[in-house]
Amino acid sequence: MSTTITDKDLDTDVLPERIRRFPFPFSGDSYRYSANVEPARKTVETEVGSWGSFLIDTDEHYLPDLQERDQVLEKDPTRTQVLPHMRLAVWDAITTLLPAMAEEHPRTMSYHRNGNTCRWGNTLQNLELEFTIGDDDSLPMGPLRFLGSQIQDDIVFLDAREDTLWLDAGLVTFAADWSFGFDVGMKFMEVHTPVPRVQTEPVINRAHQFLLRLQPGGQFRRTNWTMTVDRRLDTSTETYPDWAPDRGTIAADPDLPNRLHLRVEVQHMLCLPHTGAVLFLIRSYLLPLSDIAQVPVWRERLGHVLAELPEDMAEYKGISRYRKAASTWLLA
Ligand code: HEM
Repeated sequence: MSTTITDKDLDTDVLPERIRRFPFPFSGDSYRYSANVEPARKTVETEVGSWGSFLIDTDEHYLPDLQERDQVLEKDPTRTQVLPHMRLAVWDAITTLLPAMAEEHPRTMSYHRNGNTCRWGNTLQNLELEFTIGDDDSLPMGPLRFLGSQIQDDIVFLDAREDTLWLDAGLVTFAADWSFGFDVGMKFMEVHTPVPRVQTEPVINRAHQFLLRLQPGGQFRRTNWTMTVDRRLDTSTETYPDWAPDRGTIAADPDLPNRLHLRVEVQHMLCLPHTGAVLFLIRSYLLPLSDIAQVPVWRERLGHVLAELPEDMAEYKGISRYRKAASTWLLA
């Protein structure tokens, strides 16, 4: 591949939106775990565009992603669960996120509230409905499933008690190699047990303290990343046999640059204003290496990050069998 194009030569206007709006997560040639928390809605300029201005982002995949979520939920109802004491937190999330979406996307979404009666309009779905806050029966599919039908993000709720956060509700159809059904009811620190280095590095403990200290109304975000073969959103433990074998064959596949995707999660953390529950939103963006390679700085940086990543972290992310092939292609 030619390395003579520099970013100054790039005509960014001709790049597709999926590249211009991609939350490329690396600022250098290596990656280590860190809390990397920053305020929500802070616009981040990249070499070719920007991301991060919205709390709830919608893109060209909006309808197909939500259709896929629906299919996953039909097949496997364990992907959504609400422990009884979290019922009001779900309503807190609805009355926080819907008005935020209407404010951020006024051309397609609208929210009007009169007492406990709300009208929600979403022209992307040709949807106009009325519901009553706190009345689960006023939304045909139930409140959490309804929220999950309006946003592309996966949704997790944490309850704070005994100076600990508990994962007590959620709707997660696009997990990157974990199981919501297995984790529900666990403590925040238990959820993170499989992550390497948690015993020796203070990042998870610090994150826990940070989240426990969030004030009602507080809104923050961070990014995390991994890699996925094909644009497959549902890579949860439950469907492991469907996607895991590709990890063993992709290195030798001549179509690797089109099939292998950098998967970036933009994770929002909100302390809900009425219940004080912590809402954790996970929005997954996938971009194939062939698109990453259109931005020379990204191509080189990702190539170096993959080559340099310590083996325990690569193993945990499930990328150890193909990361060399990927970095070799990116750096060629
Ligand atoms: C500042 C806040 C947070 C930090 C710094 C953090 C950090 C991390 C890190 C470093 C990983 C490993 C990622 C990788 O190597 O790909 C991870 C995984 C994970 N995190 Fe967090 N996290 C945070 C918040 C949360 C919250 C609020 C939840 C919701 C309960 C959560 C759930 C998970 C899950 C389910 C995994 C995968 C664990 C598995 O493999 O089973 N994280 N987190």
